[in-house]
Amino acid sequence: MTEAPPSPRHPLGITRAAWTVDCAPDAIGSLRVNVTRVLRRWGLDPDGDQAFGVLLVLTEMVTNSSVHSDSGLIDAEMWRDGDNIAVAVMDSSREEPVPRSAGPDDESGRGLLLVRSYSESSGCECWPTGKRMWAVIGPHPDPEGNALLLASLGEFQTAV
Ligand SMILES: Nc1ncnc2c1ncn2[C@@H]1O[C@H](COP(=O)(O)OP(=O)(O)OP(=O)(O)O)[C@@H](O)[C@H]1O
Ligand SMILES: [Mg+2]
Repeated sequence: MTEAPPSPRHPLGITRAAWTVDCAPDAIGSLRVNVTRVLRRWGLDPDGDQAFGVLLVLTEMVTNSSVHSDSGLIDAEMWRDGDNIAVAVMDSSREEPVPRSAGPDDESGRGLLLVRSYSESSGCECWPTGKRMWAVIGPHPDPEGNALLLASLGEFQTAV
């Protein structure tokens, strides 16, 4: 994994860091170490809720790209915008992530729910050569509140 030198200050006042992640077994661990280092540099408490949310969202998205797309290399970026931290992951598949409704016995299918639960907003945009998934993590992520909202939306849709 290579870490692009984070630009100290973007002209618009946004601080940014970027990595290229390969699909090696230790890639996620290295990414966590590097992201934590940058968050600390930006003054975030590495044990705080926002840092936890950023790491969880970014690693879920990179893991998804690694598992569900045929990308050899995955690009990940993170930038600071005021109190928010935004993350984005690019892979070479044009297939968009589709949230699954995991039952209690299902061993997988909860990654996107977690991403949404920890994010203020999130989305995916397709390009001719792949896609870019992004999420914004606020200073005080409220996963329980968001997860409950999503769960009730799911029930509503099922009922309809
Ligand atoms: N980067 C991606 N490219 C293509 N499809 C994706 C991508 N990310 C997710 N998906 C699709 O969206 C589905 C839901 O993703 P989600 O992360 O919620 O569950 P999962 O990856 O199957 O399981 P888990 O994350 O719990 O291990 C995936 O099963 C996959 O079909
Ligand atoms: Mg997943």
